Amino acid sequence: MNSPLQIAQTNIPQGFIDLGAGEPQLDLLPLEMLRNAAAHRLNFGDREFLQYGIEQGDGAFRTALANFLSPRYGFPVSPENLFVTSGISSALDLLCTLFTKPGDTVFVEEPTYFLALRIFADHGLRVASIPTDEAGLSIDALTHALRESTPKFIYVIPSFQNPSGHTLPPERGKQLIELAQKHNFLIIADEVYQFLGYTQTPPTSFGAEIDSGQVIAVNSFSKILAPGLRLGWLHSNPTVIQKIVTSGMLDSAGGLNPFTSAIVRSLIENGDLDKNISHLVNILGKRVQVMDASLREHLPQVKYTKPHGGYFFWVQSPNMDAQELQKKAQACQVGLRPGIRFSSRNGLNDFFRLSISFYGEEQIKEGIVRLKDCFQDR
Ligand SMILES: Cc1ncc(COP(=O)(O)O)c(C=O)c1O
Repeated sequence: MNSPLQIAQTNIPQGFIDLGAGEPQLDLLPLEMLRNAAAHRLNFGDREFLQYGIEQGDGAFRTALANFLSPRYGFPVSPENLFVTSGISSALDLLCTLFTKPGDTVFVEEPTYFLALRIFADHGLRVASIPTDEAGLSIDALTHALRESTPKFIYVIPSFQNPSGHTLPPERGKQLIELAQKHNFLIIADEVYQFLGYTQTPPTSFGAEIDSGQVIAVNSFSKILAPGLRLGWLHSNPTVIQKIVTSGMLDSAGGLNPFTSAIVRSLIENGDLDKNISHLVNILGKRVQVMDASLREHLPQVKYTKPHGGYFFWVQSPNMDAQELQKKAQACQVGLRPGIRFSSRNGLNDFFRLSISFYGEEQIKEGIVRLKDCFQDR
């Protein structure tokens, strides 16, 4: 018999608890809200959003988005400074196309989001990693690295970082911008977890600093609505936006995702996006407590900082080979992501990443019990 054609990106076997998985659980995806928003938009009888769209993204959607962002960010966001993307991954790809050439150097945090490293590799970029500490990017290490080379951009995840959970303090953010101005490189701030703060208010968005000329803040609906929408936004100054909207790709394609953005516009305007974020913060916040309590009870030997937001626990165990541990965990029907995957220099092998996004409280507890068993026969 033929096996069924795969639909989702990850295919987790029945009974396996993959605590490494960083995608949202199906139950967290707001089907009902999207059904209502789609019905609302489709019932207007207006066909505009089925046409090729304006390159920067539908103005009405950007206005709704700006109205949603301004009170949350705590500063006014202008629709003119927003560009509609099909998510952060494709925004990064587009930015690499337009702002770099093969052989250029870019800086990333160590550790960083491993799939961004794949995108930078596709563009032939040389990646230099900048160490982080408990508060995120080390400004001392960055200052030191800038003596060796100047990057085209630095890619940072300032709020509830993937994988470390760290949040960059405002003082360091300010220093980063000063360095970017002094050495003339761009800051690409990936703020995908910005709205998922459970026990800490997220730091001010880097979008507050677009007038510096160095900042491009990218964000997405993947973690606050659904990844399948493939919709996000980029927030920057007119020079950057102009360079993007006049690119060949957009000239040919028109704006990205006019159809999806029209539906999400309804969902923002009727208040459902706010409701969904509150719902996620409530559920995921509780899962953080459960994961923390389970780790304390069953794996007291490991070290981690309890995250204040986002999806991830970044766990360290001295003298551990996390890749070996992953193999053993596999046999105990539990998954994790070894730290080496988040390193651009093949390090961090005594770390692994666990996620709270894909499983409910009971499965998180069960997963940690399974992990205890495989730690025991290490
Ligand atoms: C830090 C970070 N950036 C970007 C993404 C992907 O974003 P998108 O779905 O908008 O491409 C993820 C998804 O896990 C992520 O953790």
